[in-house]
Amino acid sequence: MSKLQIKSFEEYQQKYSQSVENPEKFWEEIAEEFYWQKKWDSVLEWNFDEPKIEWFKGAKLNITENALDRHLEKRGDKLALIWEPNDPKQRFVRYTYRELYEQVCQFANALKAKGIQKGDRVCIYMPMIPELTIAVLACARIGAIHSVIFAGFSATSVADRVNDAQAKMVITADGLNRGAKQIPLKRLIDEALEHCTSVESVIVFDCLGWMPTMTENRDYWWHDAISGQSKSCPAEQMDAEDMLFILYTSGSTGKPKGVVHTCGGYMVYTAYTFQNVYQYQESDVYWCTADIGWITGHSYIVYGPLLSGATTVMFEGIPTYPDPGRFWQIIDKHNVNQFLTAPTAIRSLMAFGDEHVLSYSLDSLKVLGTVGEPINEEAWKWYYLHVGKERCSIADNWWQTETGGIMISGLGNISPMKPSYAGYPIPGIQPVLLDQEGKEIADNETEGYLCIKFPWPSILRTTWGDHERCKLTYFSHYKGYYFTGDAAKRDENGMYRLLGRVDDVINVSGHRFGTAEIENAINTNGHVIESAVVGYPHPVKGQSIYAFVVLDSSVEDQDMAKGEIVETVVAEIGKIALPEKIQFVSGLPKTRSGKIMRRILRKIAEGDVSNLGDTSTLLDPLVVEEIVENAL
Ligand code: WTA
Repeated sequence: MSKLQIKSFEEYQQKYSQSVENPEKFWEEIAEEFYWQKKWDSVLEWNFDEPKIEWFKGAKLNITENALDRHLEKRGDKLALIWEPNDPKQRFVRYTYRELYEQVCQFANALKAKGIQKGDRVCIYMPMIPELTIAVLACARIGAIHSVIFAGFSATSVADRVNDAQAKMVITADGLNRGAKQIPLKRLIDEALEHCTSVESVIVFDCLGWMPTMTENRDYWWHDAISGQSKSCPAEQMDAEDMLFILYTSGSTGKPKGVVHTCGGYMVYTAYTFQNVYQYQESDVYWCTADIGWITGHSYIVYGPLLSGATTVMFEGIPTYPDPGRFWQIIDKHNVNQFLTAPTAIRSLMAFGDEHVLSYSLDSLKVLGTVGEPINEEAWKWYYLHVGKERCSIADNWWQTETGGIMISGLGNISPMKPSYAGYPIPGIQPVLLDQEGKEIADNETEGYLCIKFPWPSILRTTWGDHERCKLTYFSHYKGYYFTGDAAKRDENGMYRLLGRVDDVINVSGHRFGTAEIENAINTNGHVIESAVVGYPHPVKGQSIYAFVVLDSSVEDQDMAKGEIVETVVAEIGKIALPEKIQFVSGLPKTRSGKIMRRILRKIAEGDVSNLGDTSTLLDPLVVEEIVENAL
């Protein structure tokens, strides 16, 4: 597609070596492919001690000129965005690059008219509708720092984030559709704002026609705000290291931290990884099912694809509404070529049976992505067989909110695949495995703490308002390294497999296991839909294993199922990895992004249920009560 794209595995190996030998030259050549109002004075200045990391220092740009303006000449009439509504009976909506550009400019002018300036923080709490993308880009257009808050968070969580960011404006909607449910966003914002003093105005998009209460001199309708505004808006000149956005993510302390990304490096890295991991070709249609409330949506629905001139699909709904074939129906409807979803979604769809996927042709598909958590072998194989029909490559994307873009992954159809292995690092990424003492392990066929020893353009720069926290969380565990918090395994060929968070590593009688490894084993049992494993203190073994398991509804004899699970774990890993306790549960406590809240399970396993922390943001808070009640 462009000069950025690697075409073969040999070329990947070459580029990888070049990127390690001379990272500055490597990234400079890639950066040359973008539009800069002024080029950089230096490519990279860094130290991981403070930490202070500056890419393309002195350069001036606006990321929206690269995501929109730059395409107008050649791709003005190309589709930039296809929006698929929650309800399949409702019409879908399409925007060409020119239309998207005009909408972004017009809304950017509306923001300015409400007094928003470069550097102001704007929180966005919206449904998965095109206006969310428009709002994000409009902020970037005028240099306001966007902070998208996933529209499933409670009013309290919104207030925490708005206050931490000291946001001047909130952009929201009356409500949203999610499957058969509707959520009153504006009401939640009103509740949140009772505890916030920094917000001067709220812009409300009329999504459902609900006519919510509007506070005078604070709340404005989106349609009124844009009325009469021009459809062109000069792009604010930004320094490469000016902040582009803040995105809050959970830390170990429970207080969310605002991960900060900056304009230049984030632009270069998200576009580069998008084009290589997805091997996007000019006429392809690409779809990522994530929510823009999470980093995946930022980097791989909005910025990466639009910076690359791609057609990106945005979906308002959920995988199971109106039926569990919805994803596959959308793929056939829009002839999607590249598809990115999460293992949780794959596993939940697996549980509904194969017939929902088998009735769709899916023959447009080329690359299937998975992201967000380790994918177990069984889900990988199901995805490969039933969705990819054994023709598509699977790209398992390992990365983090903090890394801004994909770090370890297969590249479309050009790299070797191995079930449940993310694969090789993206050029420019230098992963290392460290042992207990923090020493680099040079050999293959090993495992350790996953760290990165050299900066890449979209590494986080700080945590908003608390640089010390950034330093302590990521740069202090092992001096001179960025610490990911994940453990990984490297096979004899240098491919990486993620084993889960290090805080999820269980040490049983001196033998270390990744929770994911044990879960993988348990999940190979045909009756198991999902499982989560945690460690709990054991007087003799140090730690022992507690498994929370969701069985499919066909299981009648739970004792027999338990016996079978024990057998599979013994067969897959060995007796030493046997869960001492297996509790059958109807569901696992998950964040709304689908991540299992192990912290809660660990406490339950430890018998310490007096303070489970805030469970209100979970997908299904009731599940916790059930688990506590039946705890072993
Ligand atoms: C986990 C999501 C295994 C990992 C992009 C990481 C994964 C955390 C994968 C970051 C993957 C993400 N395989 N584990 N492909 N992708 N993780 O910030 O533990 O929401 O540290 O970013 O998710 O989650 P975050």
